[in-house]
Amino acid sequence: MSATFLLDGRAIPFSEGQTILQAAVAAGAYIPHLCFHPDFKPHGSCKVCTVKVGGRQSASCTTAAAAGAVVESDTPAINAERLALVQMLFVEGNHFCPSCEKSGDCKLQATACDLGMVSPHFDHFFPDRPVDASHPDLLLDFNRCILCSLCVRASRDVDGKNAFALAGRGLRTRLIVNSRTGRLVDSDVSAGDRAVHVCPVGVILPKRRGFSVPLGRRVFDLKPISAVADASAQIEER
Ligand code: SF4
Ligand code: FES
Repeated sequence: MSATFLLDGRAIPFSEGQTILQAAVAAGAYIPHLCFHPDFKPHGSCKVCTVKVGGRQSASCTTAAAAGAVVESDTPAINAERLALVQMLFVEGNHFCPSCEKSGDCKLQATACDLGMVSPHFDHFFPDRPVDASHPDLLLDFNRCILCSLCVRASRDVDGKNAFALAGRGLRTRLIVNSRTGRLVDSDVSAGDRAVHVCPVGVILPKRRGFSVPLGRRVFDLKPISAVADASAQIEER
């Protein structure tokens, strides 16, 4: 029998080397997360997955699971902190959910709904970021990037292309395209790359497919993100 830890009172089995979030996802238990994806090494940047382990806060995607650990996740205090983090992401970018092609398949939107977000709460930054429509098959809307680095990791580790990177530091951190001109058309990205399907929000979008699945029938239109746990595969197949 494998070792277990307690997540909100539920025993979660894990194997050596797994983090708390990896084990929770594998067991179908939901801990809110944005920059984590089960197929990639944890990045630990969004902090939405923060839990209390033995009374101390830590990111569950980078904290090793330990036998007998007592992990708190779904508590009013922790969810209030997650809500504030998500609200900050909304005001830092330009997230026009009602008109975004990714609405209903967007993890940021779904996480906000699940946490009960009804307003951005903070003042909007209204950043002025460009849209790169240069590629024949793909559109890049930098306004929605939450800097999760999933496209960076997928392009490097799966596609072997290093097409994307995060440049700058702190508030100046931004997504860039690694090409001579910085434009997508001059990179070696193609529509079949894993990197262009992994984005949890609506930054990297296939052209001419926006509403092939109608609003109202998308993954998180049908069930809240907490009920479908990790829906990455369902969204990426589209
Ligand atoms: S483009 Fe998407 S996948 Fe890439 S860093 Fe931004 S939000 Fe993450
Ligand atoms: S999912 Fe753990 S820090 Fe983002």
